Amino acid sequence: MNLLEKDRKYIWHPFTPLEVEEDSILIESANGIYLHTAEGKKIIDAVSSWWVNLHGHSHPVIAKAIAEQALQLEHVIFAGFTHAPAITLAENLLSILPSNQSKIFFSDDGSTAVEVGLKMAMQYWYNKGINTKNKIIALEGAYHGDTFGAMSVGSRDSFNVAFNNYLFQVNSLEFPTKENEEKVIEDFKNLVSKKDVGVFIFEPLVQGAAGMRMYSAALLDKLISIANENAVVCLADEVFTGFGRTGKLFASDHLKNKPDIIALSKGITGGSMPLGVTSCSSKITTAFEATENSKTLYHGHSYTANPLACAAANASFQILTSQDCLRNIDRISKKIKIYERELAKHKNVKEVRSLGTILAVELLTKDSTSYTNPVRKKIYHYFLSRGILLRPLGNVMYVLPPYITSDSELDFIFTTIGEFLDTLET
Ligand SMILES: Cc1ncc(COP(=O)(O)O)c(C=O)c1O
Repeated sequence: MNLLEKDRKYIWHPFTPLEVEEDSILIESANGIYLHTAEGKKIIDAVSSWWVNLHGHSHPVIAKAIAEQALQLEHVIFAGFTHAPAITLAENLLSILPSNQSKIFFSDDGSTAVEVGLKMAMQYWYNKGINTKNKIIALEGAYHGDTFGAMSVGSRDSFNVAFNNYLFQVNSLEFPTKENEEKVIEDFKNLVSKKDVGVFIFEPLVQGAAGMRMYSAALLDKLISIANENAVVCLADEVFTGFGRTGKLFASDHLKNKPDIIALSKGITGGSMPLGVTSCSSKITTAFEATENSKTLYHGHSYTANPLACAAANASFQILTSQDCLRNIDRISKKIKIYERELAKHKNVKEVRSLGTILAVELLTKDSTSYTNPVRKKIYHYFLSRGILLRPLGNVMYVLPPYITSDSELDFIFTTIGEFLDTLET
């Protein structure tokens, strides 16, 4: 059996039907923004490998940090023990997170970072002896991950229909648009006025998986302020938006009112190692400050604060906060704004939206906008055949490049998008 035959036989891939017509693409190596296939093809990773990669693949500084760490301390239990890579990372993160954030809790990925955030918020009320604030508000269309808490606060759609009976109840708030802002604010006020809401969870400014849907910072600021007035804990899921994607280091940096809890993952290690982090403000930790067991947050994973992942994250932090990288984020954001205006003129485009380094093009098709829109397959194959990896969300194609992507590489991606749009029949 060759490798792909073994892959088919032994491996169950994520978000992929078990019976597929096509083999997976075998990647042998990756460098910079390019994935190199076993067949010798080069593919631009224009979606940063599920939104994780910041500085290009196999980055030598990150690779060296991991290798050196592996020779010194590969892992150690994180209860009762600690280590420099985790301490440095906590300090690094707190130096760039909103200033109200004061503690870092480690986990494994985006879903677990969200689970921890939810548990912190729920137990916050429990520890304060308040048992009436059990309701949770989440935004309609949200995606917070695939574990049970994360699914519960996420959109109830075909992806999790098999689990619906097992998910806890959540109040869903209509996704804010320019048209419904007043209504969303009124609905939110009504929901929180009953004083039984304990948590408000949201993807700040951009709902990634829902199709790169964007909403205004002013509106979110208003919702957080209403939440604050009504003693509702605000949990920002920055798993996708964190580490520069929105043009600022965090989407919360676009806001005046800062969340109480922030979930992070994806870009944290520059895309090299799995790691989740949940940060919170001292308002939250004060409810846990006790030596009694009953106030302890009983949550932890075997690989909590894995030193290799922390070392990778510290190396990525140095690159991310360098003038060079911040300039690149700015450069890409400006370039994207130019292409946003260009692409919006195309007759086959319903809407183009962008924020920072994220650009989404919603196609006008005879089928309505959804993840299952059949144009998805056509887009995927068209771009792959031209050496570009895009993984459209139905009829929404988006570009989310690593920050080292050059102007000419961006031009190539956007020109190809223009050419693709010309091939569409309306
Ligand atoms: C906003 C958001 N939260 C959570 C997650 C889940 O992260 P992970 O896939 O690392 O579990 C994702 C993944 O796409 C996400 O976009």
